[in-house]
Amino acid sequence: MLLVKAFHIIFVVSWFAGLFYLPRLFVNHAMATEPAEIARLKLMEGKLYRFVTPIAWLALGFGMWLWLGYGFSGGWLHAKLALVLVLVGYHYYCGILVKQFAAGQNTRSHVFYRWFNEIPVLVLVAVVILVTVKPF
Ligand code: HEM
Repeated sequence: MLLVKAFHIIFVVSWFAGLFYLPRLFVNHAMATEPAEIARLKLMEGKLYRFVTPIAWLALGFGMWLWLGYGFSGGWLHAKLALVLVLVGYHYYCGILVKQFAAGQNTRSHVFYRWFNEIPVLVLVAVVILVTVKPF
């Protein structure tokens, strides 16, 4: 079980590297005016999203393996899963934004994306406290 948990944590950390960096690219993209910079940001956003999506599935897969394979249960896990659903929704909304930016159809400001960038931070703090402290 510890090896499964180790890979769960490795893929969770890698997933968050993408969830923290991609919205930061959106902040820069929303401020960009130079065509060369805009083209480079479009390329980076598309590559990063395609790279981090299978990693997200691996993080979730190992989590499911822990949950269903080793009989974990409790209110903490239900609360965690609700937050994980928010995270999966956030991830796929980033995919929609990648497409909007690629089509030059972004309508939001860099200020919006700076706040948008904070959502994974809040989810990470809540999930890690839930899974380590198991308060309920
Ligand atoms: C389908 C989604 C997920 C499921 C079913 C799941 C389930 C689990 C289970 C059953 C454990 C073992 C808990 C223990 O050993 O006490 C665990 C550990 C852990 N999970 Fe998840 N998890 C999921 C997604 C996530 C996500 C998205 C994060 C990060 C935000 C995360 C962070 C962690 C951490 C840090 C641990 C290690 C806790 C420890 O060793 O005390 N998990 N997960």
